[in-house]
Amino acid sequence: MSNDQELVLEQTPCLASESNIHASQLHILPQGNHLLSLMTILRDSKTSVATFADVTERVGDQLINAALDLLPIQETNVLSPTGVEYQGAREAVEVCGVSILRAGASLENSMRRGYTGPLSFGKILVQRDESTSLPTLYYSKFPVGISSKVVLILEPMLATGGSAGAAIDTLKQNGVPEENIIFVNILASRSGIKTLFDRFPSIRLVTAAVDEELTPKYHISPGLGDFGDRFYGTH
Ligand code: URA
Repeated sequence: MSNDQELVLEQTPCLASESNIHASQLHILPQGNHLLSLMTILRDSKTSVATFADVTERVGDQLINAALDLLPIQETNVLSPTGVEYQGAREAVEVCGVSILRAGASLENSMRRGYTGPLSFGKILVQRDESTSLPTLYYSKFPVGISSKVVLILEPMLATGGSAGAAIDTLKQNGVPEENIIFVNILASRSGIKTLFDRFPSIRLVTAAVDEELTPKYHISPGLGDFGDRFYGTH
């Protein structure tokens, strides 16, 4: 068992077994001191908009790297400046990002920095009705050929799983197999993770933290508040 897998089981002892989630599908970033301090800044209600955006990008870089590490590679040989052939590797699949608006766009810069292949982004606008919490799709636009790409869904908050589920449904209707979907997320609720894997057992999820509770208004608790408001300064 890899260190990663041990970590998942240690941090989410019931989650993985209760929900039949295979450890290779749920990736929680290693909870090192640096990540913990970054997440504390995001959770602190006194953090300024500028710092919130800066720290989001730092956590986002770690998440995108972890997501890209899940991709298959193919052998690629290059000639180094010393004239020696180096037997290296590069990603064997094409990747695109799909941001769930508006908060998901906050992770796009990390993807631009992290992914060295041909870059493309799709967008999905799903909004949940505040009283029923049911999601409605308002807009979507995807790169040509998305059905043969690995799709990184960019969404910093996974609360009830409603918007995430609507986004995955839309991608599946556009020909993207569940196996090719990696949900990239900063903070997930335990129930959101279970809901998502119950509905879509073949996706993968990469997150930086898991919280136990949802408030009566479906915010993650302790959480970090409304991500979009804090990132864009609209609170
Ligand atoms: N979306 C947010 O921005 N925050 C939450 O706590 C839940 C969903």
